[in-house]
Amino acid sequence: MKTIIEPFKIKMVEPIRMTTREEREAAIRKAGYNLFKLPAEDCLIDLLTDSGTGAMSAEQWAGMMRGDESYAGARSFFRFESVTKRLTGMRHILPTHQGRASERILFGVLGGPDKVFPSNTHFDTTRANIEFGGGRAVDLVDPAGKDPTLIAPFKGNMDIAALERLIAEVGPANIPLGATTVTNNAAGGQPVSMANIRQTRDVLHRHGIPFFIDCARFAENCWFIKMREPGYADRSLESIAQEMFALADGCWMSAKKDALVNIGGFLAINDDDLAARCRQMLVLTEGFPTYGGLAGRDLEAIAQGLIEVLDEEYMRYRIRSIEFLAERLVAGGVPIFQPAGGHAIYLDARRFLPHVPAERFPGQSLAVALYLEGGVRSVEIGSVMFGRRDPDGRFVGAANELVRLAIPRRVYTQSHIEYLVEVILEVFAGRDAIGGLKFDFEAPILRHFTSTFLPA
Ligand code: F0G
Repeated sequence: MKTIIEPFKIKMVEPIRMTTREEREAAIRKAGYNLFKLPAEDCLIDLLTDSGTGAMSAEQWAGMMRGDESYAGARSFFRFESVTKRLTGMRHILPTHQGRASERILFGVLGGPDKVFPSNTHFDTTRANIEFGGGRAVDLVDPAGKDPTLIAPFKGNMDIAALERLIAEVGPANIPLGATTVTNNAAGGQPVSMANIRQTRDVLHRHGIPFFIDCARFAENCWFIKMREPGYADRSLESIAQEMFALADGCWMSAKKDALVNIGGFLAINDDDLAARCRQMLVLTEGFPTYGGLAGRDLEAIAQGLIEVLDEEYMRYRIRSIEFLAERLVAGGVPIFQPAGGHAIYLDARRFLPHVPAERFPGQSLAVALYLEGGVRSVEIGSVMFGRRDPDGRFVGAANELVRLAIPRRVYTQSHIEYLVEVILEVFAGRDAIGGLKFDFEAPILRHFTSTFLPA
């Protein structure tokens, strides 16, 4: 087989700036060793997130020019609505400015004290929106998904037995909905099988509980189903997606991922009554129901992006470029969360820096080392993000110490990835000399965003 190439050519470029090691040392010191505080201009390869960082196509930009900015009933809304309805099959589509706006509306309407929401794994904004209303967000990923070294096809799956136990324990009346996140971003970007989605639906419906999908990366998940699940090899991505959505009562999407746009989202719902209640909130906090929190041009770009993301040439290249990165790292002995996720590689900092204890933040130390070595910006998903203190003020570490390298869509080429591999291998070779970090300023909430550090 020949090399799988980027299935596009580039007509607009954005310069990225090389920095010297001295410049990077000064920049990271000034940022308090927190990569969120770095100016993007000081980063050469920016892998902080794949959210809103993708490149739009010529057709999407053309759609931006055609955008109808009418307040009510804009042509762009009807195009957006027809594409999202054909894809999801849902009766009601509510445009929102991004994923968490959909979550705020949905869990604002359904949540509240004593309400329990199971998921394969909630993304942190989903969890925060549930907890903000006093509800409980419960992560029930399959045990296979917790082992970073296990190679298995669908490590993002829901633990069905655990879901049954939870329903028995708290009672279906206290569970306004159950959800599945595809792919499972907070658990290594791992996919969920169609069989598991169906089982989840069956269990929830048997107890009269609605089933929703957090579909930010639905197309990447459908590709994994096509590649790995028996019976799907000859199916189009669109038909796999339609089969998946047909199992659900609703879904919400951060369009900043698989709709290939820089901003946007939607909430799709079958139930007329629930949709009416959510639409009330939409008008209150986002905008009129035919634009939500978006401009008409954004709706055009999302509609076009949802068509392009289901193109198999695109998806083959997308998933392959991440797999390629994983293969090169594994060949070099670098410990990663196995297998490669759909949108990201997660370095296993616990095994990468075994001499740095959790309370010295191995993930953060590794992320800083990658920046110093090659201007690569990544994000720690470990004890800075999820660690906490017990009531006596003692440190409690996170379950995993990971560093996520999220790959923006259609932005970096193979040579950028080759360069990235070189940087990581160089840091790996010098890993013994990497020390830990300690808090200089510890932010009280969501501390990964604003805390600052000092070398320990
Ligand atoms: N759900 C999932 C699975 C996500 O990954 C995200 C965002 C959201 C919901 C929230 O959407 O950002 O549009 O409000 N994930 C980004 C990330 C931020 O870096 O993984 P949003």
